[in-house]
Amino acid sequence: MKIAVFSAQPYDRRFLDDALARRQAGGALALQYFTEPLSLQSVALAQGCGAVCVFVNDALDAGVLAALAAQGVRAVLLRCAGYNNVDLAAAARLGLFVARVPAYSPEAVAEFTLALVLTLNRHTHRAYARVREGNFALDGLLGSNLHGKTVGLIGLGKIGLAAARIFHGFGCRVLGYDPAPPAGFRALGQAAQLPALLAASDIVSLHCPLLPATHHLLDAAALARMKPGAMLVNTSRGGLLDTGAVIDALKSRHLGALAIDVYEQESELFFHDHSADIISDDVFQRLLTFPNVLVTGHQGFFTTEALREIAETTFDNLECHRAGKPCANACLAT
Ligand code: NAI
Repeated sequence: MKIAVFSAQPYDRRFLDDALARRQAGGALALQYFTEPLSLQSVALAQGCGAVCVFVNDALDAGVLAALAAQGVRAVLLRCAGYNNVDLAAAARLGLFVARVPAYSPEAVAEFTLALVLTLNRHTHRAYARVREGNFALDGLLGSNLHGKTVGLIGLGKIGLAAARIFHGFGCRVLGYDPAPPAGFRALGQAAQLPALLAASDIVSLHCPLLPATHHLLDAAALARMKPGAMLVNTSRGGLLDTGAVIDALKSRHLGALAIDVYEQESELFFHDHSADIISDDVFQRLLTFPNVLVTGHQGFFTTEALREIAETTFDNLECHRAGKPCANACLAT
């Protein structure tokens, strides 16, 4: 069987090739790599393939899924946890198997969240640049201790819980909001309703999925509820934030700092080198002008351990499907 791998980067190729080599001698699977994202324009590349392997910014709407099914594709293998980019109802109607990698490394994203918080709080990114220019002045680099601060986690799944363990270890008071809080959270923090969490937290970090119910979860009204001067961190999905409202909150100085690893319109930008291009997204460019905003390009997951796990689980999911066995990682329409 041939598998069309879309949005393939050199590191995807390396880890998928390694995983495939480890598990098959006979060559029953062949990977075809395409740097293009999957869309209606690129869907024909999957001609002759039994499966496609895709990532966060590939668009699997009803039209693309219908075109895939018409070409004989039977399985959609997500190399990520989130599946907000797949029309699951359409996939079910077309009889397509869709599976994801639910937990490739919660610690990778939770630790990256910490990296963002510590960088913004202690200005290590600015200190790095200053020192290289021979400027050892400390003015402008003043931070505050994390110890004793209140951290509000929105979403207490695998990543939220890993973040709770880390913040707890730093001596923070941890609040968590989740419609279904896991029992394991009780030893680390206190469950709270969203308005109370927003009002009490010095740092608010998002770890819930992007769903119709969570789109723009942090809009102008929610941002207004946040403690003045608080820090907001989003390593989950860009659509959880109303970016326009976030910019207003930064301009009014109500929001003290922002770190984002994800952005609602990121598919136009992220995972590619645009250093020689003129970026036409004025909202994104405005974000980059704030000294108290840190933006990274969806790299929270990007560790060796996570990429290895993504590759292994991707092939496990396909094997499950081919053997006709129930797959715990299948994404089902609700
Ligand atoms: P998970 O499925 O283990 O946990 C999600 C949690 O969010 C669940 O406990 C669920 O009950 C909760 N939740 C659902 N609706 C909610 C709401 N309205 N408010 C608060 N909580 C709500 O997912 P996991 O593995 O912890 O991942 C969380 C998100 O992180 C993913 O959906 C994905 O969008 C993002 N992610 C980002 C990565 C990156 O590289 N930056 C990498 C991997 C995931």
